[in-house]
Amino acid sequence: MKETQTPPARILGIESSCDETAAAVVEDGRVLLSNVVASQIDLHARYGGVFPEVASRQHIRTIYGVIDQALQDAHLSLGDIDAIAVTRGPGLAGSLVVGMNAAKGIALSCGLPLIGVNHLEGHIYSAWVYKPDLVQPLPAPQFPLIALLVSGGHSEINLINDHLTYQRLGGTLDDAAGEAFDKVARLLGLPYPGGPSIQKASTNGNPTAFAFPRARLEGTWDFSFSGLKTAVLRVVRQFEAEHRILPVEDMAASFQAAVVDVLVSKTIRAAQTYRAKQILVAGGVSANRALREAFLAQTSFPVHIPPLSLCTDNAAMIASAGYFRFTKGQRDPLNLDVAPTWRLS
Ligand code: KG4
Ligand code: ZN
Repeated sequence: MKETQTPPARILGIESSCDETAAAVVEDGRVLLSNVVASQIDLHARYGGVFPEVASRQHIRTIYGVIDQALQDAHLSLGDIDAIAVTRGPGLAGSLVVGMNAAKGIALSCGLPLIGVNHLEGHIYSAWVYKPDLVQPLPAPQFPLIALLVSGGHSEINLINDHLTYQRLGGTLDDAAGEAFDKVARLLGLPYPGGPSIQKASTNGNPTAFAFPRARLEGTWDFSFSGLKTAVLRVVRQFEAEHRILPVEDMAASFQAAVVDVLVSKTIRAAQTYRAKQILVAGGVSANRALREAFLAQTSFPVHIPPLSLCTDNAAMIASAGYFRFTKGQRDPLNLDVAPTWRLS
């Protein structure tokens, strides 16, 4: 008897939760056919952070061009797409609405299923995505896994026993890791976004120059970065009072080392405690070189960290998570609303 093969499912992902307008096409949740990201960083840099009104207006200007480009790069038309996955939240309401409305318009006009995806779930699924030109497909993450999610708005550790199920073990009690990078960069006079600026300044800095505090919060899987931020501020004030030049590179490197130390040690301990098979690290801060190197150096657990292009906000991760929801049967109604404060679990 002849075997029937299911044709691949191609999902168009749309992401507009913060300051990147993005669209991508991913096949079967894993193969990246296109990935277009229009960054607004230059627009927001002058404000030292994301200006919500400016962000939503810019999304409106760029979203249809970005979607067209994603289809063109994948050499596909809307007729080849099986479903539209869109970020529903968390994020800025005015920004989310732009992506949501574009997704609904396409879903309605083409008769395609609409799938709302949690942005944080998207970050996790970025670890499933690989480019088709790889010699061998990247092995998929294996459950149970411990996922460290570190972005500009969130920092949490989740135990993931199977697709689309999350048990939040702990998270930040104050600033998210990316937020701490952004705020400390501002204190050190480094440009927005702070993560890449601190990483760059750290290259020539001594990570042991300042013994910045590490909030271990023993007995929990929580984090806290506000004490660390205050410690940096205290040193800045002291140097200013003494009219001394701020040792920006040493301070950046010492701050980065403190953040990395806490994130890595806690995640590895969670993986041991919950007998996870693997560790997954995702979100904008997972682009940090020191964090990536520390994970690879400090544990024998297999560690999945997305390629740099998929660490910060993108739509490939939304298309991937959308695929797994699509195959599970999720179909959302066309009156689906955005969910700016939506939690993962
Ligand atoms: O995931 P993401 O693009 O957006 C959110 O969902 O928040 O993360 C953005 C955050 C920003 O706080 C940015 O400073 C941080 O990720 N980030 C980094 C690096 N690249 C981006 N933090 C540390 N090192 C980096 N190389
Ligand atoms: Zn994000």
